[in-house]
Amino acid sequence: MSDVTLTTLRGLKQKGEKIAMLTCYDATFAKTASEAGVEMLLIGDSLGMVLQGHDSTLPVTVAEMAYHTACVKRGNRGAMIVADLPFMANATTEQTLQNSAILMQAGANVIKVEGTAWLAESITLLAERGIPVCAHMGLTPQAVNVFGGYKVQGRGEAKAQQMVEDARALEAAGAAMLLLECVPSELAARITQAVEIPVIGIGAGSDTDGQVLVMHDMLGLSLSGRAPKFVKNFMAEHGDIAKAFGAYVAAVKAGEFPAAEHGFSA
Ligand code: KIV
Ligand code: NA
Repeated sequence: MSDVTLTTLRGLKQKGEKIAMLTCYDATFAKTASEAGVEMLLIGDSLGMVLQGHDSTLPVTVAEMAYHTACVKRGNRGAMIVADLPFMANATTEQTLQNSAILMQAGANVIKVEGTAWLAESITLLAERGIPVCAHMGLTPQAVNVFGGYKVQGRGEAKAQQMVEDARALEAAGAAMLLLECVPSELAARITQAVEIPVIGIGAGSDTDGQVLVMHDMLGLSLSGRAPKFVKNFMAEHGDIAKAFGAYVAAVKAGEFPAAEHGFSA
């Protein structure tokens, strides 16, 4: 795979070809996933849960994110590398700039931040300074204590309309892409129509421009023993990690994953 850039992603969106993204935290999986055709590797702060065993993503530090980003960078064969700013690493604009710089210098191509319209200011500052931003909306796990649990977001017309407006505002602020987590499939389709930048979904139905899953989930591994509704185990059928990654890419491209049963109603 030649290096995936924002230009590549825009081209895929224009052609209507779906984008396949997976989380990744180390060099060997980065090599395997990128060689299987995964276009974007996300060093998610989900590593606090799947690697470190915490019960939320809140304990993850910028130094830990930088370490895993550097590991992924060494094994990557052409995928775009997206790294999460962890909890409170964007508490002030100064911290946002400094911490994003650390992750870019560790090997990220894009920085992902969780939030709503309030992210606009920092997204503009980052974009002006050469840092593309993915705005993560909907169920943003760093806000689990505000949400009162890991719950579907954007249900009901008022909340749906607000999310569409926030998505437009973040695009106008200069966001390079959006990521929607656990929102009704219908709303995700509406947001994807409302913006021109690529929209990646997880638990957001099949009408977004691309899909992401936590690698451990799609390999059938879990600490709790219970996978979320939006996950499909690609290891079960294939019995081989490289093949499971390839099958995921193929299913996303064919529009076979996610199926209706993986999505949420409005
Ligand atoms: O941290 C993560 O893995 C994420 C994805 C679930 C989108 O943010
Ligand atoms: Na994350």
